[in-house]
Amino acid sequence: MSISAELGHCMSNNTLILGIETSCDETAAAVVSRHADGTGRICSNVVRAQWEAHKAYGGVVPEIAARAHIEVLDDVIKLALEDAGFGFPELNGVAATAGPGLIGGVLVGLTTAKAIALVHNIPLVGVNHLEAHALTVGLTDGLAPPYLLLLVSGGHTQLLIVRDVGEYVRLGTTVDDALGEAFDKTAKLLGLGYPGGPEVERWAERGDAGQFAFPRPMKGRAEPHFSFAGLKTAVRQTAERIAPLAESDVADLCASFQQAVVETIVDRVRVAMTLYGEKLGSDAPRTLVVAGGVAANQAIGGRLRAIASSHGFAICVPPPALCTDNAAMIAWAGAERLARGWTDGLDLAARARWPLDPDAPPAIGAGVKA
Ligand code: KG4
Ligand code: ZN
Repeated sequence: MSISAELGHCMSNNTLILGIETSCDETAAAVVSRHADGTGRICSNVVRAQWEAHKAYGGVVPEIAARAHIEVLDDVIKLALEDAGFGFPELNGVAATAGPGLIGGVLVGLTTAKAIALVHNIPLVGVNHLEAHALTVGLTDGLAPPYLLLLVSGGHTQLLIVRDVGEYVRLGTTVDDALGEAFDKTAKLLGLGYPGGPEVERWAERGDAGQFAFPRPMKGRAEPHFSFAGLKTAVRQTAERIAPLAESDVADLCASFQQAVVETIVDRVRVAMTLYGEKLGSDAPRTLVVAGGVAANQAIGGRLRAIASSHGFAICVPPPALCTDNAAMIAWAGAERLARGWTDGLDLAARARWPLDPDAPPAIGAGVKA
């Protein structure tokens, strides 16, 4: 379903949720309506990116992000309500990212949501940002669990079985950099813009992927974990060796880097597909969901489509605007929790770390990010 189709009129007799997202460098607010049959509709979806504020640093600066959220969040919420055609009194609940993320930013959004809940006497739902990415396909495609999820963003790279809302089994994670982070750092070292993912993808289109033989980290390992720090270092060392870089060198480096990423991802997803079948049985529905900002990458998406089809999996990728950080997914995850009676008190704490599967054994590696 297209986003514009989603942006239709929202009936006021459904559950209406305001969502707030401030865990990284996007300040976002959205109103989503959830219908009794479990489907949803986006009434408004406002995202204000802070790229300009962070561009000079080639990455997100937490303190700058938190201050920028404070400056614009009230306006963004006002706009989201105006776009939806509703006021605070019509809301049935307010959901905000309570983690994981940059703690200063999370505090800004969560505290604002608490104030709204208190003043308007509506339930508060604290949302795990990763759960919001994981459940987005319920909003965009009406897809219900179980499914296999590849979550690839600037902060996270995980393979999870989404058994049900609130029930996640982590199969694999990165032992160092997240994939989006690897794209951003590669872009930075090549002097490209920020965010780096779209830049690297654009340059890669003009390059020769066979020019440089970069490592395929973790390829062939039995557990579907990831590692990208070594790949990033290999790009840096090669770039230093052949410097000064002509435009064609930058394109070839991007293409070779992206090719290494694609092959690694495909290998890891293949392992996860087997584990999914083993854990859920052969009768379980087989859908691969790809979420997070890196899901917008066409080269990765294309190869995943091919491998899904050859392994008997359907594939579901939300539209790019709902793959990158947004508040519609927060509102939707909040609506799903609210529908199950799962609400939070005003004493809910913001969390910098918040694994979706707390029982997952730690991945072995330096600087593990569960
Ligand atoms: O999900 P997201 O918006 O924010 C986080 O929760 O991290 O993901 C942002 C990340 C950034 O690292 C960005 O470079 C990456 O997604 N990204 C891409 C592409 N578009 C965004 N990476 C590769 N190719 C793309 N086309
Ligand atoms: Zn995200």
